[in-house]
Amino acid sequence: MATRKILVTSALPYANGSIHLGHLVEYIQTDIWVRFQKMQGNECHYVCADDTHGTPIMLRAEKEGITPEQLIDRVWHEHKADFDGFHVEFDHYGSTNSDETREFAEQIYLRLRDDARLIEKRSIEQFYDPVKQMFLPDRFIKGECPKCHAKDQYGDNCEACGATYAPTELINPYSAVSGAQPERRNSDHYFFKLSDPRCQEFLRKWTRSETLQPEAANKMQEWLGSESENKLSDWDISRDAPYFGFSIPGTEDKYFYVWLDAPVGYMGSFKQLCNKTGINFDEYWLPQSQPESGMDARRQEGGDADIPVGRLGAAGAADNADATSVAVTELYHFIGKDILYFHALFWPAMLQHAGLRTPTKLFAHGFLTVNGEKMSKSRGTFITAGSYLKQGLNPEYLRYYYAAKLNGTMEDLDLSLDDFVAKVNSDLIGKYINIASRCAGFINKRFDGKLTNIHVDKLVSAQLQTDLGYYKLKPSHITEVADAYEKRDFSKALREIMAFADSVNQFVDKHKPWAIAKETGREEELHQVCTLALNMFRQLTILLKPVLPELANNVETFLNTPPFTWEDALTTLPAGHRINEYKHLATRLDPKLIEAMVTANQESLKPMTESHSPTRHAEAQQHAPSPQSSPASGRGGERESQSSIPAPIAETISIDDFSKVDLRVAKIVNAEHVEGAEKLLKLTLDIGEEQPRTVFAGIKSVYDPEKLKGRMTVMVANLAPRKMKFGLSEGMVLAASGDTPGLFILSPDEGAQPGMRIK
Ligand code: 2FM
Ligand code: ZN
Repeated sequence: MATRKILVTSALPYANGSIHLGHLVEYIQTDIWVRFQKMQGNECHYVCADDTHGTPIMLRAEKEGITPEQLIDRVWHEHKADFDGFHVEFDHYGSTNSDETREFAEQIYLRLRDDARLIEKRSIEQFYDPVKQMFLPDRFIKGECPKCHAKDQYGDNCEACGATYAPTELINPYSAVSGAQPERRNSDHYFFKLSDPRCQEFLRKWTRSETLQPEAANKMQEWLGSESENKLSDWDISRDAPYFGFSIPGTEDKYFYVWLDAPVGYMGSFKQLCNKTGINFDEYWLPQSQPESGMDARRQEGGDADIPVGRLGAAGAADNADATSVAVTELYHFIGKDILYFHALFWPAMLQHAGLRTPTKLFAHGFLTVNGEKMSKSRGTFITAGSYLKQGLNPEYLRYYYAAKLNGTMEDLDLSLDDFVAKVNSDLIGKYINIASRCAGFINKRFDGKLTNIHVDKLVSAQLQTDLGYYKLKPSHITEVADAYEKRDFSKALREIMAFADSVNQFVDKHKPWAIAKETGREEELHQVCTLALNMFRQLTILLKPVLPELANNVETFLNTPPFTWEDALTTLPAGHRINEYKHLATRLDPKLIEAMVTANQESLKPMTESHSPTRHAEAQQHAPSPQSSPASGRGGERESQSSIPAPIAETISIDDFSKVDLRVAKIVNAEHVEGAEKLLKLTLDIGEEQPRTVFAGIKSVYDPEKLKGRMTVMVANLAPRKMKFGLSEGMVLAASGDTPGLFILSPDEGAQPGMRIK
């Protein structure tokens, strides 16, 4: 069979947060598939990169007092170590902040602007933070939901009622960066005209051409609407300074929105691989010479003159490529279902109209839950790759568990920690490793490490001959496992493999080498039983190798063989082949290690893992059509980490403890600056008593006293009065604060009267 040429990507993780077990679902899934393709002898290249641009990264660097370049460099190394730790083996791991990505982004933009005429400049009104002196992304504006009036909702959708709206519709908006009240300002933005009939027409064809899983194709139809509708709106691809990103050619102070250059990062990273290895870049990125998946919309459109065709030059396209007849190569993007919108609409439309090839298929997966729930820091189930590895847990156990659950659909996947332990111990140790540990010692000790002849004609008993026919791995089983891997139905592949492991164990149980070993005159039978079992163990290892690459390497060493290829599963080791001494290949998973990891995660909510406030949602949400279609827990719980992460919940108290605190609704009748006080405002609070109270509150940096006057809030009324430098403080006003800047005093709902008790 001809060797396939395949380029594979996983979504690029943001360069400001740790890799966690939610992310790993995708990288492990992709890595297994890539390893399978490579074992098949296909030319398969797996690239990825850190996604380095955008406001959140800029702000995070600022908060840490370092440059964005320093931040992304540090995180790159952390990510790389995590991926290495889980044996996720990229052929190249780059960064979107590279010359290659910049040049491709510019070229694509210029082709869209000048050739396809799909870029338009428009002035739009946006919120501007006068303190930070920057326009605010939707996720950095908060306020009261215009529909249900829940407080502190993001600028694009309400987590309380699910409503979506424009940030300008928020009531009492404030900047989540500085707490300041934002102003509305106009600014020129550049739009990719996704609403153009050419885009609509192309996307209708493309999304129906088996490029998407059925669930994803349905989603697309929903987003595209019926033939007569034009539901797609233009996409704002620019951002104003200050912004960490690539500046837009022909502008002074405009930058590409991070989601414009993120997928271009797939190309940039691949280009770096090509530069290292001599792979022909154009073969993978120019329109293909034959229709792929029965579809090449560019040709079907008859070579529309609007659409440029040709190699990408400046970033150094391979010299020997002929733009009009390149080989058919395959391009697959593994992604989470929450970023389908970007990969199934914007990205193919950009590529198509810039005269480039479009992806062969998108493989979207679901989200990870842990113990049936969204990953949670307070429960200790927001588990980072680093904390898993640090605990000394075997990364291949997680690979195995994920593989056992992944079926190639967009269904969510649950990591039940008890089930994880049970499955690893029963399948991997109890079934698979057990075979080697029961048979290897006899070969090492009794036969000088040498295997014997197990050709059916040489078997010492008719029973062994019959059993060999019955228990051996059939070529049709190998094909079934291969089909399942190819379809990313790893759970099916592992079911088939474990069924074979059961069968091998039955064979061993039936022939009892430990019993034969005690009888004289049965040496050859013992030798054959153990040789057969070890050969079957070898076959199991070959089939498991995409999932358990490190273990397979150790088995290769133990069996003294070159690296296994898929075809090796059809062969046996020759008589006289000498194996090495058997050393433990894997040990049982101790549930105590899992408990310790969960506890450690609860205890150490370090900033790096919990406050990467900007997740993809900080950047992405504003373009997803609705929160329902762009679910909250991308890659398993990212939403949780997008805003300030709540500190761990304090010790449980009784209702009696709580009722000791007398909380009252208070009306701020006056608010004023305090001379000489840097942080304090003096508040005069009416709580229905004869005399109003005076409270000094440390909210000067975020509240203008004039705007507080007349407002209702909440105070602790029975706190012992405190003598301060500026006077007596007779209580405390409650305010919320988190990991991100800002301090937010509370407000009761409308109708509450001064003095009402809060309980
Ligand atoms: O959602 C995310 O984590 C993004 N950083 C994914 C980008 S994928 C691709 F488009 F680069
Ligand atoms: Zn609401």
